[in-house]
Amino acid sequence: MTASSPPGCPMSGHTQSLTRHTEQPTNGARTDLIRAQGYEETRALLKEATLTQAGFLAKLAGQPQGGIRPPVLYMQGEEHTEMRRATARYFTPTAVNSYGPMIAALADELIGELHAAGELNLDDLSLRLAVQVASTVVGLTDSRLPGMEKRIEAFVTGNMDSEPGARVKASPLRDTLMGGAVGLFFMLDVKPAIQARRKAPQDDLISYLLERDYSDQEILTECITYATAGMITTREFITLAAYQMLQRPELRAEYVHGTEKERHAILHELLRLDPVVTMLYRRADQDTQVDGKAVPAGSTFALNIQTANADPTVMGEDAEQLCPHRTLPRGVQPQGLAFGDGPHRCPGAFLAIKESDMFLRRLLIWNDLEIVAHPAVTRNEIVKGYELRGLRLRVGAKGKRPQAARV
Ligand code: HEM
Repeated sequence: MTASSPPGCPMSGHTQSLTRHTEQPTNGARTDLIRAQGYEETRALLKEATLTQAGFLAKLAGQPQGGIRPPVLYMQGEEHTEMRRATARYFTPTAVNSYGPMIAALADELIGELHAAGELNLDDLSLRLAVQVASTVVGLTDSRLPGMEKRIEAFVTGNMDSEPGARVKASPLRDTLMGGAVGLFFMLDVKPAIQARRKAPQDDLISYLLERDYSDQEILTECITYATAGMITTREFITLAAYQMLQRPELRAEYVHGTEKERHAILHELLRLDPVVTMLYRRADQDTQVDGKAVPAGSTFALNIQTANADPTVMGEDAEQLCPHRTLPRGVQPQGLAFGDGPHRCPGAFLAIKESDMFLRRLLIWNDLEIVAHPAVTRNEIVKGYELRGLRLRVGAKGKRPQAARV
């Protein structure tokens, strides 16, 4: 399957991936991991329902003891299908559009804070936005103390590696810190939300889980899943997209002046080039077949999403360049596999793009917005993705009234 890319992308700026990295064998990496080659093979493996989740510390987090139900990310089969079917209503375009006024108000508030302070770190603002938006969907809205975003950040802090088989060094200190972070999140954020919804159910995930008789512990692990899958990822993407556009005035202008469809196309293309989660993993628990090929039980696959997304046989010869108007083969999503595919495909994909766009357009419209400090771009081996920290922005240089760009 070959995409016919238009000769010479009409998009300006020669934007390339910011975070592309050569895959390094991680600490104690397994030599028997099967590395998928290219977009088609990667997608076929993701779509194969019999393969199970092997990433995101599945061995630790995906097999809770004592008959406890695992979070959606690690569920399989009918139980998983039923959970996805029942929770899909929180993520439909209609539901997401109904969050529009809340997202707009929050984005205005955060950008107002930037104006008041003069300069702030964008990665702090994007974390607050992503956490508050996803919390509304989940129902984490009754916290006893502010600062939930910092409590959530703690879940992906530390030098663990989630690649299946990677050596996890025993660290009593890390275990204590993680236990403390989970305990605080439960006491300050999850428990009060459960109590409030037991009294008055709402139209959110926690209320639904209570309806299904989920225990406090099961609700806690589901909330941690949403916190890392939905909040941490969106935060990184917003920071990356802002940074890419701030460095390319023409791209930024095309984004800010574009229609919503055109803006979303730019965001999808930025995400294709820099997928937040670069590696996904799957395992065959029983003998199976993928695309007509036999896969013996015990096979574990490493799926490099960034490489798959830059496959020239699908994305076109200019696959490593940004071109939101590229012609894609039927069935290929503009963001490639950045939201996964198959049964575990990200339910929050539309929400993530919508909230990113609402915030970024409000931010990038300010003509006098400038970079004060470039971010450090590092890797997080728990999430298997990039982190941008310290992107400091200034708006409304001293003595001048802030000016919005003319659109
Ligand atoms: C730019 C932002 C985001 C990115 C890049 C992203 C990426 C992904 C990817 C790649 C997966 C598939 C994991 C796998 O197949 O192993 C996934 C699953 C998931 N995402 Fe997202 N996500 C984003 C935002 C969100 C948001 C906003 C939410 C919810 C509020 C969310 C909730 C989830 C959940 C619950 C799953 C697990 C689904 C399942 O296993 O059935 N994500 N995400």
